[in-house]
Amino acid sequence: MIVLGIESSCDDTSIAILNNNTLLSHICSSQNNNSFGGVFPEYAAREHLSSIDPTMRMSLQQAKCKLSDIECIGVTNRPGLLGSLVVGVSYAKALSLAHNIPIIGIHHLEAHLVVPQYTHNIQFPYGVILLSGGHSMIILAHSLGQYEILGTTKDDAVGELFDKVARCIGLKQPGGPEIEKCALQGNTTIDLPVPLRGDMSYDLSFSGLKTAAQRKWNDGDKSDIYRSNLCFSLQNTIYETLKERMMNVWMKYCTENWVLVGGVAANKYLRNRLRELCDENKRKLIVPPANLCTDNGVMVAYAALLRAEDKLYDDLSLRPYARAKL
Ligand code: KG4
Ligand code: ZN
Repeated sequence: MIVLGIESSCDDTSIAILNNNTLLSHICSSQNNNSFGGVFPEYAAREHLSSIDPTMRMSLQQAKCKLSDIECIGVTNRPGLLGSLVVGVSYAKALSLAHNIPIIGIHHLEAHLVVPQYTHNIQFPYGVILLSGGHSMIILAHSLGQYEILGTTKDDAVGELFDKVARCIGLKQPGGPEIEKCALQGNTTIDLPVPLRGDMSYDLSFSGLKTAAQRKWNDGDKSDIYRSNLCFSLQNTIYETLKERMMNVWMKYCTENWVLVGGVAANKYLRNRLRELCDENKRKLIVPPANLCTDNGVMVAYAALLRAEDKLYDDLSLRPYARAKL
């Protein structure tokens, strides 16, 4: 089956075409949000509007496909920035209506968490550590659509922490990759509080760490080496809180296979440390390549392929939702 996947829930317009497990094309057009210091919803929606059609045309060209070859359209319809979702969903519905192609609305987080099935051929059930710009979650994925949320974002998500701290210390957006780069020069630990230290829950909280890091920066000497040390310490402290949550989870759940997904999973330091942690605890960790961790059309096309196999189609009453449970 040839499936087209459209992702426009935040600031990346990304379209991919899959022929079952074979990727025919993947085009991602990212926005430059530095003049706003982050994602500005109205601007993001306008950018999607101007880039969605050219991105689609390039995808078809790269895949050497015609619209009449497409057998199913998957489109992220929840959750996300409403204006951004409206662009993708309206575009997908227009294609569906004009070319008589079945359509499937995809939950953005489901798309993130099925990617390892595409990249590593892993099957349900497995545990999920999902770290993105809007969510930090620990999930047991039992089967398609059956997700048991063990722990979730109490306040700021981990990606939000990266982005807000980056802005405060004079780095570009998105903050995650910039902090990762800056941290490579760090060699001394700056003391930061580990969120929820000693708490036995599985939830994640990052707003206290954000404020603490911002305070350290404001009180520090603002040198390049201080910035690098702060970035290095921030990544280490994020790892420490994730480690505590996972140790709590593993005391109760014996799930063997785990996946690390979402934009923050592109972070090499966190990937490596979490992989070591899993090894030490006799768990297997699968992490997709970085370009399939950050928002992309492939994950949407793949989620649609899985749903199409189960005949879980939508119709033209499909609409976007800014918020939606997984
Ligand atoms: O999944 P994603 O692309 O979009 C959402 O669904 O939110 O995640 C975006 C988040 C941003 O906060 C960005 O700073 C973060 O992922 N991110 C990273 C890295 N690459 C992207 N965080 C840490 N290290 C990275 N290399
Ligand atoms: Zn995402």
